[in-house]
Amino acid sequence: MPNVVVIGAQWGDEGKGKVVDLLTEYADVVVRFQGGNNAGHTLVVDGQKTVLHLIPSGILHPGKACVIGNGVVVDPEVLAHEIDALKARGLLQDDHQLVLSLDAHVIMPWHKAIDIAREQRMGAGKIGTTGRGIGPTYEDKVARRGMRIRDLLDEARLARKVKERLQAAREELQRLGGTLDVDEATLVKRFAELGRKLAPYAQDASLWLHRAMQAKKSLLFEGAQGTLLDVDHGTYPFVTSSNTVAGNAATGSGVGPTAIDRVIGITKAYSTRVGGGPYPSELKDATGDQLRQVGGEYGATTGRPRRTGWIDALALRYAARVNGLDGLAMTKLDVLTGFPEVKIAIAYRCEGRTYEEMPSDLETLERCEAVYESVPGWSERLGGARRWEDLPRSAREYVERVARLAGVDIVAVSVGADRGETILLQNPFRA
Ligand code: GDP
Ligand code: IMO
Ligand code: MG
Repeated sequence: MPNVVVIGAQWGDEGKGKVVDLLTEYADVVVRFQGGNNAGHTLVVDGQKTVLHLIPSGILHPGKACVIGNGVVVDPEVLAHEIDALKARGLLQDDHQLVLSLDAHVIMPWHKAIDIAREQRMGAGKIGTTGRGIGPTYEDKVARRGMRIRDLLDEARLARKVKERLQAAREELQRLGGTLDVDEATLVKRFAELGRKLAPYAQDASLWLHRAMQAKKSLLFEGAQGTLLDVDHGTYPFVTSSNTVAGNAATGSGVGPTAIDRVIGITKAYSTRVGGGPYPSELKDATGDQLRQVGGEYGATTGRPRRTGWIDALALRYAARVNGLDGLAMTKLDVLTGFPEVKIAIAYRCEGRTYEEMPSDLETLERCEAVYESVPGWSERLGGARRWEDLPRSAREYVERVARLAGVDIVAVSVGADRGETILLQNPFRA
């Protein structure tokens, strides 16, 4: 019963949701272990689109359990809304299907207000956060003053903690020029209400997972964001505030690292990035616009247009290293149809120096320009391809070339947004 981690190998939005939804068929439990509702994971099944921000992308499969681990930061309003929306569609009918860690930290209204106020003050140098309060919530966690799901379940404790934190948050907001339009009593009442709503799901998720593994259940860990947004390994400070790499699947859910059998990275057939930060293979021209338009590259969470560019072999090789990738799934290959040539960034050039591995210094990376290798494109539409042999030769050669440069086998190729529009070459739960 293998346990598999699926993470983003680029800057997020690689199609993790689609791949996790697809692989859920072979797993018993899907686990989110980091990030929060900065994530937007899109699933399309028989033409029906679902966007999930917090609940794991296995939830469309009745009978498969979904766990929100201790490493996730939870906005209870968003989670309650997501639960209601799923229930209204006839999903999540059994409350046992969802497990919420008592230790997950809670995004409070002041976290969002601080996130937004800070970004406004930073002006041109801003990170371009999603404004969902992710950074401030992780800061409070590490500073040992955060609020956790367990704190919502006891109204007296909740009131005490809100009193402690609200004053400090107001002072910080005043310094930043932001505001928080809510009084203490209303806030306590609302969050106690949310605590009651989430109580049926709240439990010791680590113990729950331990028992699931004892019962020989297979776990599928679902990453959010992507490797280059990891707070340690990404393009710091233009990153999110959590570890997005595979190693955090253990810490963020309370299983040991020995529980993880396989790690799969997801990459688009090209690349995108939302928000600020270096991006050497970015295309600020008509080709970039075409990728954005054909690929529908607008954020699933904020609706912002995504920056677009060619695929970056250095970034993929780096992702393979820091995640220990066993395989790569390539999504959105269909979007490249019609480009006369397709390019792959194979090196960076910066002030006369050539880099063949990702430079770790941000200032160097910011000045780097990508060096490309071109391969012939293809004109055939790929949506109907279900076997490797169905792909045109140039498309196959492109995928093979990327795999060779990344040093990782391709285990799946996605040729459309729908669950069915996928070529699964090697099932990580079976291989
Ligand atoms: P995630 O955050 O990694 O789950 O990815 P997002 O859902 O934010 O963005 C991926 C987008 O690409 C979504 O709109 C998906 O429906 C879509 N998508 C996923 N795979 C494919 C594919 O193979 N082809 C096309 N055309 N769209 C895809
Ligand atoms: P999924 O899971 C793409 C980016 C933001 C910003 C930076 C920090 O859908 O792939 P934050 O709000 O986390 O403090 O913002 O990280 N970012 C994402 N970009 N996909 C995501 O999630 C992202 N979550 C955060 O745009 O640059
Ligand atoms: Mg997304």
